[in-house]
Amino acid sequence: ALITLRQLLDHAAEHGYGVPAFNINNMEQGLAILKAASAVDAPVILQASRGARSYAGDIMLRRMVEALAEMNPGVPICLHQDHGNNLATCMSAIRHGFTSVMMDGSLHEDMKTPADYDYNVAVTAKVAEAAHAVGASVEGELGVLGSLETGEAAAEDGSGAEGKLDHGQLLTDPGQAVDFVLRTGCDALAIACGTSHGAYKFTRKPDGEILAMHVIQAIHDRLPGTHLVMHGSSSVPQHLQDLINASGGEMPQTYGVPVEEIERGIRMGVRKVNIDTDCRMAMTGHFRKVARDRPDEFDPRKFMIPAMAELTALCRDRFERFGAAGQA
Ligand code: G3H
Ligand code: 13P
Ligand code: ZN
Repeated sequence: ALITLRQLLDHAAEHGYGVPAFNINNMEQGLAILKAASAVDAPVILQASRGARSYAGDIMLRRMVEALAEMNPGVPICLHQDHGNNLATCMSAIRHGFTSVMMDGSLHEDMKTPADYDYNVAVTAKVAEAAHAVGASVEGELGVLGSLETGEAAAEDGSGAEGKLDHGQLLTDPGQAVDFVLRTGCDALAIACGTSHGAYKFTRKPDGEILAMHVIQAIHDRLPGTHLVMHGSSSVPQHLQDLINASGGEMPQTYGVPVEEIERGIRMGVRKVNIDTDCRMAMTGHFRKVARDRPDEFDPRKFMIPAMAELTALCRDRFERFGAAGQA
């Protein structure tokens, strides 16, 4: 059944687990993710970016997620707008059946330029008022996602945003988080702790210098009735980098967020864990492998089947390690 983010994360908080939020753009991703959720009895958040909505179309996304819910009646599903950039994006998502929206006011509408606090509070409060009036949940973001190694803010697509930022902007301030939640009424809050979008998060295995998990505890201890969200939570697994590179890919060596750090984050109160890059790598790694191993092959299903199996295995692992398995 389709439920709201608030319903789903209240349950996760009560039972002390984290829910992965996987990005979807097409049927194969939806089928693979739900196969994993259903196999381990886990609730799931399916999130669509603005890019996903224009790729698949709102009608297709809605019908697809309704079909996934009908095919998997035991799995609670939240359909969530990832990184909404203004009120209109969020309201059109809700009109198309999304049960939850993210208003990302940490950046301006262009999703590149870091925004100031007053803008963020005003736009998030406006979206929360409108969304709550029709029963949808709202996620806000405080602090700009980006690299503590380089000081670069991260745009939604993993490229750099405008200008250099200092540590203060790249790490969410716990006191400001309390004020933000009280003034906006958001149901969930995305925080910045040194992660960024895309595959190129860290140039070495992250330690406390470049991945500041301690801010999570400080925020969680004070936060009133709102759930914490961690963006940029792909682990960029070595075996998927190797799979891609062994099949003609050219991904330079890179490091993501180790799964054990996310498990630590969940123990400190993270409830929604955003993952897109790992899912992309799982699928395209196998597209490359089939293309290399079977140059005569041209049936797209022969590319999709191993790609979906890898994605299902990845999702299953995250449901289990985040404690969501058995919670549906
Ligand atoms: O947060 C960003 C997600 O990875 C979505 O990326 O805008 O390319 O769909 P996208
Ligand atoms: P990754 O690029 O680490 O998968 O992050 C995805 C994300 O935060 C989507 O909002
Ligand atoms: Zn994100």
